[in-house]
Amino acid sequence: MSKSLSLFAISAFSLISSSYASGLYINPDVYDSTNFFSKFNFFTDADPTHGYVDYQTQDQATQANPPLISTSNNAVKFGADFSSVVADGARGRKSIRLESQATYTKGLFIADIAHMPGSACGSWPAFWTLGGNWPHQGEIDIIEGVNFYTQNAYTLHSATTGNCLINNQPASVMNGTLTASDCGVYDSNGNYANPTGCSIKSGDTKSFGDNFNSYGGGVQVMQWTSDYIKMWFFERNNIPASLKAGSTVEPNICEFGRPDATFNGCNFDTNFSAHQIIIDQTFCGDFAAQTDVYAQNSAQCPQDCVTMVQNNPSNYASS
Ligand SMILES: *[C@@H]1O[C@H](CO)[C@@H](O)[C@H](O)[C@H]1NC(C)=O
Ligand SMILES: *[C@@H]1O[C@H](CO)[C@@H](O)[C@H](O)[C@H]1NC(C)=O
Repeated sequence: MSKSLSLFAISAFSLISSSYASGLYINPDVYDSTNFFSKFNFFTDADPTHGYVDYQTQDQATQANPPLISTSNNAVKFGADFSSVVADGARGRKSIRLESQATYTKGLFIADIAHMPGSACGSWPAFWTLGGNWPHQGEIDIIEGVNFYTQNAYTLHSATTGNCLINNQPASVMNGTLTASDCGVYDSNGNYANPTGCSIKSGDTKSFGDNFNSYGGGVQVMQWTSDYIKMWFFERNNIPASLKAGSTVEPNICEFGRPDATFNGCNFDTNFSAHQIIIDQTFCGDFAAQTDVYAQNSAQCPQDCVTMVQNNPSNYASS
C-alpha cells in the first residue's frame, strides 16, 4: 500500500495507524515507527488467495538485500522484492503480509499512508480487516485493487447471501458508487456463490496505485459501528486538522464531511467481529490474474500474469 523510494528504495505502506475503542474513541492503539513490526505477525503460509507470492518472515525481510522492511524518520516501510527474477519452482515473488496481534470489534481506524505499491502487472495490494473462520466473522477491505487500477474499491464480505444487503445512497450522502450490494459469500445451500461481496468504488480517482502516490498518498479512515461502516479518503493536501501528523486532539468526525463510502443495511454486530488488521501485497492469484481483469491491461502486460511477475523485477520498484 504504498512514492518515495528513499533510503533502501523500498516503498510500500509508509503507515502510521491508530485504532480507537468504540464509543468515545479513547485509548487509541497506535502503530508507528516505535513499535510497528512488533505489533504484527508475519504471515508466511501459502497465500489463501492463491497468489504468486513468497511471504517472508521478519528475519528474512530484515536480512534481504535490500531489506524488505525498514523504519526511519517516523515512518515505516515495507514492500516486495524488486531486484530479483523469481527462480523456477519458487512460491512466487518475495513479499510481506502483516497481521495485527490485536483484534478489534468496531472502532475508528486511521492510517496515514505516504506511499502504496505502484501500478504494475499482477500487483494486488490490500489493507483490510478480517475475522477468524472466514467468512463467518466478516471481512472489511479498506484499500484494495489490482494491476493499473486508479480507484480504490471498498468491499465487505459476510457469511450468507441474501441477508446482508447494502443500501444504495445518493451522491449527497457518499462520494463513491455502489457496484455490488450483497455481502454474502455462501448461498443457502452452502455453495461459494458470491466472491465479489458488496462493494463501493471510491469517488476519488487518486485513491489507488500510481495516482495515489503522485500526491503523496493521504489518510484513509474506516469507522465501524453497529449501524454502519463508513470510509473516508483524504488526499495529502486535504487532511482534516484533527488527523494531521502531530495533532494533539482526538479525531473529530464532525470535520470529516461526506464519506467516500457508507455501508448500511446489514446487521454488523452479528456478521462482523474480532478482526485483525491485515496489510499485504500478493501477485496474480484470484483477483489480479482473473482473466477478464488481467486482460484489461494487455498492452502493458503482454505475457501471462505469473510470467510477468516472475521475470520483470523492476516492474515492482514502487511496490
Ligand atoms: C467528497 O466529495 C467532495 C466534493 O467533491 C470533496 O470535497 C470531499 O473531500 C470528498 N470526500 C471524501 C471523503 O473523499
Ligand atoms: C447478518 O445480518 C443479517 C441482517 O442484516 C441477519 O439476518 C443475519 O442473521 C446475520 N448473519 C449472522 C451470521 O448472524
